[in-house]
Amino acid sequence: MIKVFSGIRPSGKLHLGNYLGAIKNWVELQNEADQVIFMIADYHAITTPYDPKTYQQQIMDVVLDYLAAGVNPDKALLIRQSKVPQHTELAWIFNTISPIGWLDRLPTYKEKQDQIEESANPKAASWKNNMGILDYPVLMAADILIYKSNLIPVGNEQLKHLDVTNEIAKKFNYLFGEIFESTKPHLTEGAHILSLQDPKRKMSKTGDEGIALSDSPDEIIKKIKKAVTDSSKEIIFNTDSKPAVSNLITIYHLLSGQKIKKIEEMYEGKSYVEFKSDLAEVVVEFLKPFQEKYQELQKTPDYTTSVLTKSEEKAKVLANSTLKEVKEKMGLE
Ligand code: TYM
Repeated sequence: MIKVFSGIRPSGKLHLGNYLGAIKNWVELQNEADQVIFMIADYHAITTPYDPKTYQQQIMDVVLDYLAAGVNPDKALLIRQSKVPQHTELAWIFNTISPIGWLDRLPTYKEKQDQIEESANPKAASWKNNMGILDYPVLMAADILIYKSNLIPVGNEQLKHLDVTNEIAKKFNYLFGEIFESTKPHLTEGAHILSLQDPKRKMSKTGDEGIALSDSPDEIIKKIKKAVTDSSKEIIFNTDSKPAVSNLITIYHLLSGQKIKKIEEMYEGKSYVEFKSDLAEVVVEFLKPFQEKYQELQKTPDYTTSVLTKSEEKAKVLANSTLKEVKEKMGLE
């Protein structure tokens, strides 16, 4: 049985990295798998500074992003993490068998600390060194294992978290008896989309580094025009010598369906200006139907809420069944 699970933090507008690294693959996998669950990681996103006043809106925006991008509620459950409390209950249980050494050496732990340092939130310092950013991968393991999921479509930087998930599953099985099978990542060519401003960083939710799925054509054109390129002027794909241009070619390739070789041929002898102008058109054209669907969905908030609540009821049944098994094995029941 293929059981797919994935999630995104509602910590800002979703960008092309989120789409190409994760959601695009979700939409493909939802047709092939036996169980499919996509989550808004609202408990994960409160580990870094956020604004409670706009948080519900931000969560609903991500739900609309999922639906507009093609997640099909007839095939997949769409849930909010905080509405299925079994996730956090299992995370507590997993905490008791997860050594701190598995967590404090993860690159994302350091990254999240930096995010707190750099945050514009006036109360940001109060989030410093919170337990949640350390414990984050344990909650992620619980998200995945509570549904006995085995295929996880994510971008590259989540791989170390999936290793922790498998370590926790193995340790649980060793201590209390076999319940969990190991999980596998599902990675594709979009697993590591880079920042448009600094190809040493991944595309993120901030400023000109990324293209938000909701960006207007003008914003997209401006951001692509400003995107950094590499020193020599050929438009060729080589992630070592031309990381910035290769990233732009990857985006072109994944959104247009054109093969990378073909794109190189099309732009042989042409300038960055021509290439960037065409790329902007590809992105704008790709996002047009997405944005139209998004606007349509905005008109029917009751529909969106009912998709969530129905999904969450079904998810609770699955989650309860695993939690019961876990508690029985552990002598808690
Ligand atoms: P988050 O919200 O940081 O990112 C969501 C998804 O988008 C992918 N992604 C990218 N892919 C390619 N290029 C990029 N530049 C890029 N930026 C982001 C991420 O790899 C991810 O797949 N911890 C998770 C959320 C989570 C989760 C889970 C995921 C919580 N529980 C269980 C899978 C299974 C996170 O913070 O993702």
